[in-house]
Amino acid sequence: MTKQGRQGMFISFEGGDGAGKSTQIHELTEYLRQMGYEVVLTREPGGTPISEAVRGILLDPQNKAMDAVTETLLYAAARAQLVAEVIRPAVNAGRIVICDRFLDSSIAYQAFGRDLGDMVGEINRYGVGDCMPDLTIYLRVDPKAGKARIQGRAADRIESEPDAFHQKVFEGYEEICRRDPARVCAVDAGRGIEEIAEEIRAEVMKRIHEI
Ligand code: TMP
Repeated sequence: MTKQGRQGMFISFEGGDGAGKSTQIHELTEYLRQMGYEVVLTREPGGTPISEAVRGILLDPQNKAMDAVTETLLYAAARAQLVAEVIRPAVNAGRIVICDRFLDSSIAYQAFGRDLGDMVGEINRYGVGDCMPDLTIYLRVDPKAGKARIQGRAADRIESEPDAFHQKVFEGYEEICRRDPARVCAVDAGRGIEEIAEEIRAEVMKRIHEI
């Protein structure tokens, strides 16, 4: 999102399954709220009643027949609604929006994981427009280590994909980092919770002061 005409900040968290996003999002949200910032916490796919309904369709393990393009369109639809209903208004009102996943997830999972390439960015252009994160925290974790971390909980449709898919997703994220180093901050997620949280806090505060 361009900085013109707004004062808020949009932060997204990204990473493969089992990267520890939820824990770190919680840590950062608590920290920023204690500092007195107004934080709007949301997630993808989801974050609005319509988008949460789409999430149900997307992650239902029964929907094995879902075509990759259908999948991409549904993620884009859920995102379009979230941008219009939550993210854009909150950032325009001067709030800090923290979103668990955003467009980069579709690039990593659909463009790379499903081999759909440039089509994914194209499809998302309509709903996202210039509403891109000011900062993206990418929690980098080896796909095998990520898988081990989520072992024991019921896997959703995407988590149930084979290792080769998750390896392509990982490579997708690495490519996103190379393409957009100014926005994407890669954090080694294989360390202790507090060490990672501290690095994220420092990165966020640096950006907040730049705005
Ligand atoms: P979550 O487990 O982080 O809530 O995310 C739901 C799953 O959806 C996760 O496996 C990643 C996947 N996903 C995509 O494949 N494309 C997307 O655009 C998004 C937002 C998530």
